[in-house]
Amino acid sequence: MKLYADSAAVDAVLPLLRDGLVRGVTTNPSILARDGLGAADLPRLYDEFSAAGADEIFLQATGATRAALLADAQRIAAFGHRIVVKVPATQDGFRVAHELLQQDVRVLLTAVYSLAQATFAASLGVDYIAPYFGRLVDSGEDGLSKVANMTQVLSATRTRVLVASVRSPNAAATLALNGVSHITADVPVLLAMMVDPVTEQSAAEFERVAAAALPTA
Ligand code: G3P
Repeated sequence: MKLYADSAAVDAVLPLLRDGLVRGVTTNPSILARDGLGAADLPRLYDEFSAAGADEIFLQATGATRAALLADAQRIAAFGHRIVVKVPATQDGFRVAHELLQQDVRVLLTAVYSLAQATFAASLGVDYIAPYFGRLVDSGEDGLSKVANMTQVLSATRTRVLVASVRSPNAAATLALNGVSHITADVPVLLAMMVDPVTEQSAAEFERVAAAALPTA
């Protein structure tokens, strides 16, 4: 199981990386915009996440044409060896993904919604696909079955399914139960995954008992 922070909120993400709680970070233009950031901030984000211990840093390329998308992807790939370039799973995106793979750049095809797209991505040999679980459910799909099917189809390939748009601890746990081994979620969801009220009660009781058992002077 590998968990990633789906966030560009540096102050929230760096402690998780420094404490070794997540393997890396994923972002996209919408996530950057949420924190008032843009493409010009990507080199700094790479450096900060890298210094804090991220194994993999997923930054997304943009471009209105295939050539522009490829050029931006190559710019991002040059940041360093921890980069996995995210490219949208459009027809241009598939073509750019292939070119990047030829150049030994690691690639994630993002916003994958169908099993057909997942199948095509695996045939190219991309490193990851990212289905958006919450958005699949929003659109009335059986998101769990769809993601489970992608996981099953890709299990015999080198392409991993890294599920995004995971909005609650329960969603993460349900995905894990259905064979998902790579999940990215926003920091509050990750933090909530570590918490259970019964554990909190038990931990408080341990502290009370330990304090009461202290030898008196
Ligand atoms: O990385 C995917 C994420 O940006 C989408 O999440 O919750 O807006 O569907 P959400």
